[in-house]
Parts: sequence; structure tokens; C-alpha cells
Amino acid sequence: MSDTALEPVRLVDYRVPAFLIDTVHLDIGLDRTQTRIVATLAIRRNPASEERGPLKLDGDSLLFVEAWLDGVPLQTRDCIALPQSFTLHHVPEGSFTLTIETRLDPSANTQLMGLYRSNSAYCTQCEAEGFRRITYFLDRPDVLSVYTTRIEASFQEAPALLANGNKIEDGVLNHGRHFAVWHDPFPKPSYLFAMVAGDLAVVRDSFVTASGRHVRLEIYVEHGKESRCTYAMDALKRSMRWDEQVFGREYDLDIFMIVAVSDFNMGAMENKGLNVFNDKYVLALPETATDLDYANIEAIIAHEYFHNWTGNRITCRDWFQLCLKEGLTVFRDQEFSSDQRSRPVKRINDVKTLRSQQFSEDGGPLAHPVRPEIYNEINNFYTATVYEKGAEVVRMLKTLIGDEAFGKGMDLYFERHDGEAVTIEDFIACFADASGRDLSQFMLWYRQSGTPEIRAEGVWDESGGTYALTLSQILPATPGQPQKQPMLFPIRLGLVGVKGDLPIRLDGEHFDGLVALTEPQQSFLFSDVGEKPVPSLLRGFSAPVKLAVDLDEEALLTLLRADSDPFNRWQAAQSYALKLLLRLVKDSATPIDPRFVEAISGILARGGDDPAFAALSLALPSEADIAREIGSDVDPQAIYGARTKLRSTLGSHLGAELLRTIEMMSIDGPYSPQARDAGRRSLRNVALELACANGSKAALAVAQAQFDNANNMTDEMAALNTLALSGTAAGEQALQGFRERYGSDPLVVDKWMSVQAMLPHETTLARVKDLMRDSAFSLHNPNRVRALIGAFSANNQTQFNRPNGEGYSFIADIILSIDPKNPQLAARLLVAFKMWRSLEAGRRALAAATLRDIAARPGLSRDVADIVQRSLA
Ligand code: PHE
Ligand code: ZN
Repeated sequence: MSDTALEPVRLVDYRVPAFLIDTVHLDIGLDRTQTRIVATLAIRRNPASEERGPLKLDGDSLLFVEAWLDGVPLQTRDCIALPQSFTLHHVPEGSFTLTIETRLDPSANTQLMGLYRSNSAYCTQCEAEGFRRITYFLDRPDVLSVYTTRIEASFQEAPALLANGNKIEDGVLNHGRHFAVWHDPFPKPSYLFAMVAGDLAVVRDSFVTASGRHVRLEIYVEHGKESRCTYAMDALKRSMRWDEQVFGREYDLDIFMIVAVSDFNMGAMENKGLNVFNDKYVLALPETATDLDYANIEAIIAHEYFHNWTGNRITCRDWFQLCLKEGLTVFRDQEFSSDQRSRPVKRINDVKTLRSQQFSEDGGPLAHPVRPEIYNEINNFYTATVYEKGAEVVRMLKTLIGDEAFGKGMDLYFERHDGEAVTIEDFIACFADASGRDLSQFMLWYRQSGTPEIRAEGVWDESGGTYALTLSQILPATPGQPQKQPMLFPIRLGLVGVKGDLPIRLDGEHFDGLVALTEPQQSFLFSDVGEKPVPSLLRGFSAPVKLAVDLDEEALLTLLRADSDPFNRWQAAQSYALKLLLRLVKDSATPIDPRFVEAISGILARGGDDPAFAALSLALPSEADIAREIGSDVDPQAIYGARTKLRSTLGSHLGAELLRTIEMMSIDGPYSPQARDAGRRSLRNVALELACANGSKAALAVAQAQFDNANNMTDEMAALNTLALSGTAAGEQALQGFRERYGSDPLVVDKWMSVQAMLPHETTLARVKDLMRDSAFSLHNPNRVRALIGAFSANNQTQFNRPNGEGYSFIADIILSIDPKNPQLAARLLVAFKMWRSLEAGRRALAAATLRDIAARPGLSRDVADIVQRSLA
């Protein structure tokens, strides 16, 4: 094993902070290599703490210069300043000020945590523990302080000087320098601190809140990119209005700023009043961004804005409570997007993400509860489980107690805890109080990891007109949790007959569509069931579980045709396809069921009614979906073969209908990112891909024409992808032509890289290696690495899992070369191995050998050591 010693942090060890820091004055003298930080902290002992010892502040790789206690220089015998901590031995009674000067080199900061440079700007990233890379501090979310930040820099280098809060002063200094002072009146934890300085363009707008407060809105980007901010600004204003209307939450400062930077480890960051974004989630023009990019921008702008209340005004007591802000805020952004677009389509997409990202995590060695109880490295817990499953838990809560009680619970939460750092227990107590319900069993959703399985069996009694439904819960063992307690599941359901939902009763009463499963096994007796019903279970995906119910093809077709629940109509199509695909994986000679082809043809025929929904129903389960369903001894090549066969069969049987759909879904006039047009494009492009799946010349000609004439990136990318997949000379030409068209636009070149990295061709690994030598590629920029390397390892099942292990060793080498520079990025790439145990024996052995090889390397970062050790455990 590696020599990186991991010292776990445990929830049970939580203690209130021994000291409080009421105010922070930061004086930042910016310089590329020699930035000077002077922090003045007003400190006192925490009356709620019993500890009486010395004051110990956190640091990370800090260079100490000098310190003062109440203005008097501290001598070396008074304190110890190390790179990773600062200790003051004798602490005065009452309040005192501690001033500490440190020096740092932003240009050498490749971790992108703390103060670093992105292109020509200075920026900071402090969540989770980056503030301690700027100055010594009690760098934990339950220490809330009022910040005043003075930034000084060369005017020429950094005309824009930004920090949290409102600007209270600025001015010109000697030697071409200038300064600005920002004050944030809202006490906040250090992880929400931010500062940005640079030569940036700004796009301005304004917003008047419900109570009449005027707010200035500013988006900062590289010069020349101003026109790409229009959509982000629009999404911001819609988010602000929506949070007022739906959650009653108003913005609270005079200014709200967003900065787009090109070097960023994550999507974006909710620093108070100064959100910092990965530029991928701000910049968009029809010619450079796809419909998916637009949807992501809208969702992430909303997400970070919503954090102002769920995260910032009310924050987390400790990092174990991360889902308190993230799960809740994801839930809020999902609701926002549902209201702005199509609710069923949004729900289906969210469930697809949940299943592909979270179920795979929950089913492998990296499984952890929504609220973990132990961690080695907190950066590794910004996971699909904390975010996506965390959002599902909030959604279930709403389903269980109803919209009204949920709304009251949220109001109570904002009222009761504004300005505090709280726990999941505090959050749930608000809903227990608002609804009068005992939510103690519900709390298990935060504590027990793994994806529960719900088994359903039904018996129809024709003569009595009853249907007895038996539901049972199976809770699989997960790392550290061999045994589990029965959980509480909200199950929305209905019984469907040939003509649609049957009006049924439960225990003689009108049935409102919801049951709660609380026991290991429970039966429900429905009456007034006059015809043989098909159960439509887990409507709207009312709980994040695997549903095991034996529905035959006829039953699935009934749901597909007649279910009133759109989610389950979509699910029926997926389940049907999955059944077929599983058979094909086992035996590639299995004939394709004509009823399925007919059903797909029916979806195409009705495509015009709701194109986005039709597109989702036409898209076959992904290779990863099939792999998850198979569960063990997975052979990615066999899965690919099965899926390819089904696609090309559909292409052959439905060629003419697909071409007609493509024709019908074309749009005249200028591009609009709105859901309506996006839906038409998505149907058109799914149809295009299917039509080309059998190599049809006519269909490929349509793809070529679309590639040549598209007026937007969505259609252009779809055509490029289809042509490249065909493996023809035209595909290679299109790739080359695309690159020539967009050569200097990094976000577009990223797309070009991803398309190639995901090709299921034998030559792809060699191609990826070539692309790494492309002048547009850099191992230092997270977006570039994710676009090429991440796309290959996470989204190319056959080539990452090459049977000779080349894919694994390639990724391992890259991880090891990135790790010393950017451990977070390296650790995230390593997560590609999360399913290694479910592979067939040959690949499994090769993956294990690769992981062991990584684990044995000396000097691994904590981030990588943690993931590799848990993956192997
Ligand atoms: N808190 C950010 C969000 O979800 C994510 C993030 C975490 C960004 C850590 C940077 C660092 O909105
Ligand atoms: Zn968030």
C-alpha cells in the first residue's frame, strides 16, 4: 500500500469550536509570485466550549512572515507557525486581535485551491478547505465571521478588484497601483470567501426584488466573450424571481457578481455575492453551445444563486452535513428547471443521471451514505450520492408529507436557522414539526448507503375485483454496513387497464395514489379492480430504488400506451428495450421482437405531440445501463455488440419513418435555446443516429447535409457524432473540417476531443494519445483533461475496458502524472474504476492490478490514496 498516511475524520468526534472569530480584515497585496496577505482576526473563546487550551489555527503550505497580538509583535516563544498550523500558546482573556502576515505564490498554485491564477486573472477557491492556503484560520464551516477585504494590485494588470459583499471604498495609489475595499455584512464561514482580480470584461444588468431592493448584476468574462453571457444573465434573473415566488427568498446584497474562469476543478462555486464559475457553465452562443450546454448553464446559474439561502444564509455545521446544502440546492435547481421547461422530461433526465452516476457509485466499493460518517479527504465526497441522492431524499420528504407541509417546513427552516450552521437533524426537525409526523425512520435515508431494491408482486382476483399488491424491501450490504434497518419508501402507484388508469380503492377508501412502505414486507389490497390491471409502480420515480417487478412484454406495452404517468410510460419503453438487450447479450442470434419495433414506430408516429419526450423514449439504454443491469461478470464488448445490433435493426426496419421524422422536426428560422425547439432538435437527432446505425447511405447523406448547413452547435455536433461513429472517410473529413472551423475556441475544441474519445473503435486509444499532443490540449486544465481523458475513461465502455488492459494502464499513467499538480482532478479520474469488481474475470484482474500498482506508488496525494484504497478494500 502507498505511504500516504490517511487520518480519518469522524462525525462522532465533532466538537464545537474552542474559539470564535467575529470579524476578519484581509489585506491582500497582489503579485504574481509574491502576494502578501495580512489577516486581522477578532477572536474570543467560545462560551459554548469547555476547552481551555491554546489557540490552534489551520494552515496548508503557508509561508509565515510575522504576527501581532493586539498590535504587539509576537516573539518566537509566544507562537509556533508551521506550514500547516499556527499555535498561540497563551491566549488572553476576553476578545483580542491576532494579525498574521503570510506570503504566497499564486502562479505556482496548480491545485486550483486557495489563491491561484487562471489565464490572466487572480481568483480564489476556498470550499472545502482552501482558505487555509491563503491564511491561518479556524477553517471549518461552523465559524462564522464578518469579512472586510482590501485588495491592492497593479491597475494595468487588474483593473477589476472584486470580493464578497458590497464595495465600500476604492482609490488610486502610487506606482500604478490601486485598491478596493469590500464589506460583507453577513457572517459566513471561510469556505464562502472569494476574491477575484484581473483585466476582465463586464456585462451589467439589474434586478428589483419583490420588496423593491435594487440589485446590480454583473458577469465578468474574458474580453471578447461579452456576447456569450446573455443566456447566463437571463437565467440569473429568472432564478432570482423564481426563488421569490416559489420559496419566498429574496436576494440580500446590493450587488450579485458572477466570474467565469477557464481553470476550475468543479462546475461553479457559490461564494457570497461573488459566484465563481467554470466558463463552460456561463458562456454560450448558438454557434458554440449545444442545447445541453444551455440547459446546464440555466441549472448551474440557478443552483449557485439558490445557495445564497440554502448554504450561505444557513450553512453546514461540519462537512459531514454537506448534503444539507447540496442535496437541498440540487432539489431546488431541479424544481426550477422543471418549472422553466418540461417537468416530465426534466424528471426523466434527472433519473437517468441518478442511475448512471449514483447507482453505480452506490453499488461499488465507493458507496457511502448521503451523510457520510467518516472521511479521509473531504474533496472526495462531492459525489453523486451527496448531490443527486441527497436531492432525491428531499423530494421523497415532499412526497411523503405533501406540498403544503413541505412548504411550511421550508419556511420554518429559514426562520429558525437563518445565520446558523446546522445539521441534517435540524433540517428534518423542521418538517417533523410542520407536518406532525415522526420522521425518525426517514432519517435512515441519510445514514444507510446502497440502493434499496423493492420487489413487487400482485395478484388479481377477477371474481372479487381485487388486486393484492405485496411490496418487499431488500437492502444490500455496502462497505461498512453489512446489516440494515428497514426503511421508509413513498411509492406512488396506479393500476392501469387497456384504456388507462383504473379508478380504484384501497382498503375501501378512495386511493390517492401514494402508499408508504415501512416494513420489510407489506401488502395492500385494492378493490373496484374490474379488469386485469398492470401495476404502474414508482410513478415519477418516487423513491431512488431498483424496482423488481415481473412485467411481460404485453404488460409493458399496456403501460407504454395507457399509463397516465409519463415517467412510467418512458420507463416501460426502457424496460422493454432492456429485456431485449439482455437476451441479445447472452445470445447475439436472438431475433428482435417485432412488437418492440412496432412500439418504436408508434412513438415515432406520435413524435410530434411531445418531441422531447419521444426522443427520450427512442433512446436505447446506454451500455453502462445494461452493464449495471447485468451486475456481475460484465463483458463490455458483448454489451456493445447487442446494442449495436438492436440499433441497426431499428435503423433498417424504420429507415423511412426515421427520415420522415428528421424532416418533420427540422426548424426554420433562427436558433432558440427554449425547451420547445430543443425538444424538436433532440428528436431529430436521435432519429438521425438510429437512421445511420445500419450504415444507410441515404441517412448518412442527411447527416452530412446537416453537418454542412447547421446554424447551431446542437445540430452540428449531432451530425459530427453520427458521421464519426460511422467510421467512414466522411467521418474523418467532418472531424477535420470541424477542427478547422473552431480551432481557437477551447470550449468547442473540447467537444471535438470528447466525440473522438468516445468512439467505440479499436483505434480510439491511439487517437486519444495523438490528441494529447494537440496544441489545444493541456494536462493542467481540468476542462481539457475531462473532455479528452475523462470522456474516454468514463464514457467509452469498450475502449477503456480493452481486454488487454491498455485502457487501464493509460489512465493510470495520466492519473499519476496529474496527481502531484492537481490531486482533485487526478482523484476524479480514478473514479472511472468504480465498477471494476463487476467486470468479467479477465478485465477484473487487469483493473485490480492497475489499482494495486497505483496504490503502491510513493508520495500519492491524500485524494488519490483515499480513492484507490477504498476501491481496493
Ligand atoms: N459548492 C459547489 C456547488 O455545488 C461545488 C464546489 C465544491 C465547487 C468544491 C468548488 C469546490 O455549487
Ligand atoms: Zn452546490
